[in-house]
Amino acid sequence: MQTPSGILMAYLRLRRILELAVLDRPGLQWLLGDRGGRSERRAPAEHWETLHRTGTYDALMDEGRRDHLRLLAAMIAERRPGARVLEIGCGQGAFYAALRSHGPAAYRGVDIAPAAIARAQETFAADIERGLAHFEAGDGAELGLEGGFDAIVFADSIEYLGPIDEVLARFGPLLAPDGVFGVTQWLAPHPLRLWGALKPKLHLRDEALVSAPWGGAWQVWTGRPRPGPS
Ligand SMILES: C[S@@+](CC[C@H](N)C(=O)[O-])C[C@H]1O[C@@H](n2cnc3c(N)ncnc32)[C@H](O)[C@@H]1O
Repeated sequence: MQTPSGILMAYLRLRRILELAVLDRPGLQWLLGDRGGRSERRAPAEHWETLHRTGTYDALMDEGRRDHLRLLAAMIAERRPGARVLEIGCGQGAFYAALRSHGPAAYRGVDIAPAAIARAQETFAADIERGLAHFEAGDGAELGLEGGFDAIVFADSIEYLGPIDEVLARFGPLLAPDGVFGVTQWLAPHPLRLWGALKPKLHLRDEALVSAPWGGAWQVWTGRPRPGPS
């Protein structure tokens, strides 16, 4: 007989099949019970601060939940050894944990939640001390930043930064020549909708899917915005 967790697992695996079917066929989004609407969803800093303070995102630092981040770090390191990397929505530093063994030249992580930044600063104090990494609190949708990054990473965060055209217009000019965006997204209605709007505006370099054993999957990609109006 199926246990409740077995039924949940079967449901999540069925959902994964549907999500994969929808990935490059936005017209099938209704299969996920999605009636359309906006793809982005902004939330105020206090919302994220509460989630980080109450430990909601602590599990994202677990080894077993970082395969997608390790893959993205390897994609970036292979294309751009010794990369200068900016990450928006870095949380407690889960992507940096994957990237650091590849020896980036410089890493700068920004998150809207000061509690997440404080955790990252504690975890990676030695790298900060050596000038390899820098973590700061800020709203990625409003930051004034100088450019020249080989990679700008959004690990499960791009949908929170406002309309996608504004994200491309804000961060595209910060890429070095031949620099790339590196993105992971959990396959769920919002990110899938966002992908439908985003894909035509990109020159994709790498694209992969990382399945989670409990059901569901992350999409992992690198690419550059196409030139011209986004
Ligand atoms: C789903 S979590 C992912 C965290 C991290 N990238 C990881 O993989 O562990 C989304 C993150 O985006 C951050 N975030 C949301 N809106 C943001 C914004 N406007 N600017 C910067 N960070 C933001 C949140 O505080 C949160 O840490």
